[in-house]
Amino acid sequence: MIKEYIQSNQQRFLDELFELLRIPSVSADSKHKSDVRKAAEYVVKKLQDAGADTVELCETKGHPIVYGEKIIDAKLPTVLVYGHYDVQPADPINLWTSPPFEPVVKDGKIYARGSCDDKGQFYMHIKAFEAMTKLNQLSCNVKFMIEGEEEVGSDNLSTFVKENKSKLKADVILISDTSLISLDTPSITVGLRGLSYMEVEVTGPNRDLHSGVYGGAVANPANVLSKMIASLHDENGRVTIPGFYDKVDELTAEERKALNLAPFNLDSYKKELDIADIHGEKGYTTLERTGTRPTLDVNGIWGGYTGEGAKTVLPSKAYAKISMRLVPHQNNHEITELFTKHFQSIAPKSVKVKVTALHGGEPAVTPTDSKAFRAASKAFEEVWSKTPIPTRDGGSIPIVSLFKKELGLDTVLMGFGLDSDAIHSPNEHYGIKNFLIGIETIVTFYKYYSK
Ligand code: BES
Ligand code: MN
Ligand code: MN
Repeated sequence: MIKEYIQSNQQRFLDELFELLRIPSVSADSKHKSDVRKAAEYVVKKLQDAGADTVELCETKGHPIVYGEKIIDAKLPTVLVYGHYDVQPADPINLWTSPPFEPVVKDGKIYARGSCDDKGQFYMHIKAFEAMTKLNQLSCNVKFMIEGEEEVGSDNLSTFVKENKSKLKADVILISDTSLISLDTPSITVGLRGLSYMEVEVTGPNRDLHSGVYGGAVANPANVLSKMIASLHDENGRVTIPGFYDKVDELTAEERKALNLAPFNLDSYKKELDIADIHGEKGYTTLERTGTRPTLDVNGIWGGYTGEGAKTVLPSKAYAKISMRLVPHQNNHEITELFTKHFQSIAPKSVKVKVTALHGGEPAVTPTDSKAFRAASKAFEEVWSKTPIPTRDGGSIPIVSLFKKELGLDTVLMGFGLDSDAIHSPNEHYGIKNFLIGIETIVTFYKYYSK
C-alpha cells in the first residue's frame, strides 16, 4: 500500500521538493537572510499539509527553527526527526552545469544545491509522515525539528534544545543527513567525526610592500604561514600538535577488521576524484582514515595579490581557515586550545599571529544494540533485501552528541546520500531512486520501531 502511495504521488513529491530547492537558503550569507526564512515558512506549510497537528516557526537569535508534531497517543513511543533546511553557499557558480537553485533532472538525479544535503533527505521524512497519516498507518508519535543553521554550526539550536527539553521529549532521534555505501550495498552510519574550525591571521609589516624593494629583508607573512602550515604534519601524515592524539580512541583489531569489511575500491575512488594516488596517515586504510582518525586540513588560504595578472607585492597579512576532524574521545574545546597554543608557539618573531576559533562540535558514535537501530536494520532488510553494514562517516553533525548530552537520546543515522553526490561542491545532486526508496525505508522503519 505504501509503495503504491509513493508511486502515485511521486511527481507531486518531486515538484514540492523542487519548490524548496528553488529557495536559496544559504545560512552563511546574510544577503540570503529572507530566503532562509522563506524556506522555513515553506517547511511549516508542508508539515501542516502532511498532517502535523502543531507546527511552529520558532524564532532564534539567528535563523528560525521549524518544529512540528503529531501525538497520537502519549503512551506510545516518540520519534524526533532532525534535519536542516539551510544549505552551503553555491560558489564557485561558474562550475555548475545548471543554475544551483533551479533544480533539473539529469540521468535520474536532481541537480541543485541542497538536493542531498539536506533538503532532499529531510523532505523524505515529511513525505513518509504524510504517507503514514493519509493511509492511517502512523503507529507512534512523531516530532520534527528542522533547523536553518546546521551549515554554520547550529549555535542557536543548542540553546533551543537546552531550553525546550520537555517539548523535545522523545525516545529516539532519527536523521537522514549522511551517506550510504551504494545503492547495491546499504549501510547505516554509526559514527561521525567532530570538528574544530579555526581561522589564523599572520601579520608582517604594517602595509603591503614593494616585493623588490623589501623582499628578502622583511618576513613575508604568506611565506611564513605556508611554512607553519606545512609543519603541522610529519612525514607519516600525522598531526604534529603536541597532545593531539592523547585522547584518541584506538580501535581494537576486531573493530578495524569489521570496519574494513565494507566494500571499497581504490581504483574507482581514485578515478572518481581524478587523482593518481591517495594520501593520509601511515598505517591506516582509507576507510579508517576518514572514519576513525583525526585530521587537519586547510579549507582556504589567502593573502596578498590574487587578482588578474601580476602585482609585485609583499603582503602585510596572510590568512587561512583550518579545520580539524575529531574522533572519540577528543574534545573540540581542548583541541582548539592545543591548536591555538601550538600555532602561537611556532610563529617566528618576525610576524604576529592571531588565532580565532570559528566553530566546533563533538564526535559521536551511535549504538547498534538499540530497538531503534534494529528497526532501521530490519527496514533495510525488507526494502533492500540486504542487511545494512554499519559504517563510520568522516563528516560531522555536532548536534548528535548534544542530543545525547542534553536530552539523553541516541540517534539513528539513516542517510540515503552517496559520497559521490557532491555535497558542498558544484553540481550537488541526489538520486530520485534514493529519494523514493528512502521514503519507503523510513516508513518501514516506523513499522518495526512501533512493533
Ligand atoms: N550532512 C553533513 C554531514 C555529513 C555529510 C555527515 C556526509 C556524513 C556524511 C552536514 O550538513 C555537514 O556538512 N556538516 C558540517 C559540519 C558543520 C558544523 C558545518 C561538516 O561536516 O563539515
Ligand atoms: Mn547536512
Ligand atoms: Mn552540509
